[in-house]
Amino acid sequence: MPTIQKVGVLGCGLMGSGIAQIAAQAGFQTVVLEVEQKYLDKGFAGIDKSLGKFVEKGKMTAEQKAEVMGRLKPTTSNQDLADCDIVIEAIIENKELKKSTYAALDKIVKPDAIFSSNTSSLTITELSMATSRAKQFVGLHFFNPVPMMKLVEVVRTIVTSNEAFNDTFEFAKKLGKEPIACRDNSGFVVNRLLVPYLLDAIRALEEGAGSIEDIDKGMVLGCGHPMGPFTLLDFVGLDTTYFITEVMFEEYREKRFASPPLLKKMVMAGRYGRKSGAGFYDYSGEKPVAMDSKR
Ligand code: 3HC
Repeated sequence: MPTIQKVGVLGCGLMGSGIAQIAAQAGFQTVVLEVEQKYLDKGFAGIDKSLGKFVEKGKMTAEQKAEVMGRLKPTTSNQDLADCDIVIEAIIENKELKKSTYAALDKIVKPDAIFSSNTSSLTITELSMATSRAKQFVGLHFFNPVPMMKLVEVVRTIVTSNEAFNDTFEFAKKLGKEPIACRDNSGFVVNRLLVPYLLDAIRALEEGAGSIEDIDKGMVLGCGHPMGPFTLLDFVGLDTTYFITEVMFEEYREKRFASPPLLKKMVMAGRYGRKSGAGFYDYSGEKPVAMDSKR
C-alpha cells in the first residue's frame, strides 16, 4: 500500500468540503470532485469562510490560508483522481449512486489506493462490493462541522485488510483527528447511541414532557452538551436524520431506531432545520424561535 500523499474527495457539500479542507490543512494535495462546477464554487466558498475564521482568530496566517487553498484542486473529471492514494466519498446518501460512483472510479484510480466512505448509516460492506478492492475499503465517518469536531470513526468490514485499516487509522491521525475503531454495524458507534437519544427527545416532546426550549436547556445545562437535542437535530438536518433512522430501523428492526411521526411530518413539511430556514426552530429572525413558542 502506498504512503498516503494525495487525497481525493468525492462531493463538495457540507461534509465533503470540510473533509477536503482538513486534508489540505494537514498538508495533503487534495483533489475535490463534483458533478458540476457550481457545487465546487459553493463548497470552496465555505472552505474560504471557515479558514477565514481561523485567520481572524489568529490561529492561521493569511499566507497559511493561501497555502491551504493552493493544495486544493477542484475538478469535475474522474480522471483527476487517478493518482490519489486515498479516495474519500462524501456524496449524497444514495446507495445506488455511491455504488456506481465507486465502480466507475475503481477502473480509474490506481489499484493500490484505499477507497473510503463517509456514510453515516449505509453498510460499508455492501458499498465495498461495488469495487474490485473490498480489502482496501474502509469507512471514515466524520462529524459536522468537520473542521471543529475531533472525532473520526474508522470502520472495518469483515473483508477489510489489517494493513488498509491501520493505514487509514494513521491517516485520520495525520488529519489532526482522534480516530476510534468501529465494526461495520449500521450507525457505527456514535449514531447508534445518538440517534435513539435524538428520537427520544422528539417522543418526549410529542408526549408533552417539556417544551423544545426547555428540553434543549435541560440537556445543555444538565448534562453539559454543547447543543440541546432539537438544536442538534436542526443542525444535522431533519431529512438527514430521517434517512438515517430509516436505514437503521431497516437494519435492526428495533423501536428505538424508528422515526417518531412528528419527525416524518417535519420532513414532509419541508422543515429540514437550519439549512431550510426552519425546523424545530425558525431561523428567519435575529434569534431562533422554537415552533412551540408561545412568545
Ligand atoms: N470552521 C471554522 N470555525 C468554526 C466552524 C467552522 N466550520 N464552525 C464553528 N467554528 C468556530 C467558531 O468560529 C467559534 O470559534 P471561537 O470559539 O474561537 O470564537 C467556535 O467554533 C465555536 O463556535 P460558536 O461560538 O459559533 O458556537 P459553539 O460554541 O456552539 O460551537 C459547535 C459550535 C462546535 C458546532 C458546537 O456547538 C458543537 O460542538 N455542537 C455539537 C455538534 C455535534 O454534535 N456534531 C455532531 C453531529 S452528528 C454528525 O455529524 C454525524 C452524522 O452522521 C449525523
